[in-house]
Amino acid sequence: MEHIYFSFPGNEVLTTTLALNDNASIGLAEIRRFPDGESYIRIKSDVCGKHVVLVCTLDKPDEKIMQIYFFSKIVRTMKASTLTLVSPYLSYMRQDKLFHEGEGVTSIEFAKLLSSMVDQLITVDPHLHRFHSLKELYSINTKVVSAAKPIAEWIKSHVKKPFIIGPDSESEQWVKSVAMHYYVPYTFLNKIRLGDKQVEISIPEDLDLSERTPVLVDDIISSGRTMTEILKQLKKSGAQAPVCIGVHGIFAGNAYVELKNAGASVIVTTNTIPHPSNQIDISDLLKF
Ligand code: R5P
Repeated sequence: MEHIYFSFPGNEVLTTTLALNDNASIGLAEIRRFPDGESYIRIKSDVCGKHVVLVCTLDKPDEKIMQIYFFSKIVRTMKASTLTLVSPYLSYMRQDKLFHEGEGVTSIEFAKLLSSMVDQLITVDPHLHRFHSLKELYSINTKVVSAAKPIAEWIKSHVKKPFIIGPDSESEQWVKSVAMHYYVPYTFLNKIRLGDKQVEISIPEDLDLSERTPVLVDDIISSGRTMTEILKQLKKSGAQAPVCIGVHGIFAGNAYVELKNAGASVIVTTNTIPHPSNQIDISDLLKF
């Protein structure tokens, strides 16, 4: 079946790469806002009987979800055969339990919403913590790929004597799989989150980083507080300036500058969310 790729605004580079890799065409669509902030969507290419692929990473999801909804409705009206959402970063995965009375498990609610819009979802390293598979949340076909190999390759070619460090036990899954590609040492720390921008991290006293380059690896860099706190503590201990690697660089507010100022030797992310720190290309992982 013929594939046709559409880019959500801001995803043009990845869309072009994926369409070229798939030998498929790129569809024309107008996705914009009216002056009053409401959404305007017009699909200008013929999608009848085709497998439509919408590429839209889901940082700032609340700004995008209505447009994805309208897009999905329009392609169905235009008799597309199927609709796949390629969303290299999948949002709302961290709200995976009721932390306080009166909240919702928004990862489930978001999954229900997306499942009602598209037939298939493809993503990179979603934050699976209390849920172990997207199948527990999503009722549609889902495909998860891991950025561990390209991250490990980047470390191998850029860092001498790396020691990989994850901020918390949740990060063990990413840290371990990155470390295992080249058998480099790794550990993970203990983190307590006290608020959106407040974390406490403890580094074991016996962690020996002499003659090693600390490489902090986490799935998401959002406020950057997790990495900033580790950087502060490693600085006190006299360790070399660490390399900071995030699969998904959200960098909310001033996080990128704060992380640089906190003493990271380099901050590197994959291109799941377009950002100047993108040095690790994951587009090959997203091939059909
Ligand atoms: C935690 O659950 C994630 O794995 C990351 O550690 C977290 O999202 C980082 O957030 P921030 O940059 O806001 O500290």
